[in-house]
Amino acid sequence: MYRYSIRVVALVVGSLTITCLALVACSGPQPLARAIVASDELAYTQALADHKDDPAQAFLAMRAEELGIAADEALTRDQALSTTKNPFIARKDPVAVSHGAVVYKQHCADCHGQDADGRGTRLPEPLVEADFHDFSHRFASTLHHGAPRAWFKKITGGYTSETPNSDGTFSEMPPFGDTLAREQVWLVITYLQSLDADLRDDATAENE
Ligand code: HEC
Repeated sequence: MYRYSIRVVALVVGSLTITCLALVACSGPQPLARAIVASDELAYTQALADHKDDPAQAFLAMRAEELGIAADEALTRDQALSTTKNPFIARKDPVAVSHGAVVYKQHCADCHGQDADGRGTRLPEPLVEADFHDFSHRFASTLHHGAPRAWFKKITGGYTSETPNSDGTFSEMPPFGDTLAREQVWLVITYLQSLDADLRDDATAENE
């Protein structure tokens, strides 16, 4: 009888430990890893290898192949995209979120962090103002329908932090207007919007 209870206790403790480990592993903030479909990442990495130092061209070649159109047609299509209105709906388009997360991982995570919390490794100090999980940031973007127009402008035109580093210098974001295709910029914005659980469904609306 005594031996039996020890076994039961061991079983209960064992399963509790496994449950706790599983909960810790699953509840950790890993939006990037969760958002990316492996084949999307592979396709973009391969396209980048074929079009060295030209991410926009790599993306357009990948898109052209997907859509069965010529490369210049893909470019014309891209240039016709709006610069003020996001064509994707973060809440309803996991494919766009995955493609956007791939862009984020390749081109933004070094500075903005794997978890989009502003704690990347490339800059000397974390970008406290650019924590995309931060309540005030999310609140502002939720109020402004996900800030699509403002973010498109900042990402394509470049941006300097308004908060100084401790040595008085200001961290800078390079302009991505010539580096990324318009669609890539919208995709990465869609990924950032997907981090906001409170985002409204009409988040494609134009805004400041
Ligand atoms: C070399 C570092 C660097 C890279 C790479 C970088 N950024 Fe930034 N980003 C910054 C800095 C610095 C700021 C200003 C943050 C602040 O306000 O403190 C910023 C600000 C932003 C903002 C504005 C946030 C706001 O307050 O409205 C957005 C959106 C943004 N980045 C998105 C991106 C995206 C998307 C990419 C990838 C395509 C990217 N960034 C790549 C450094 C970088």
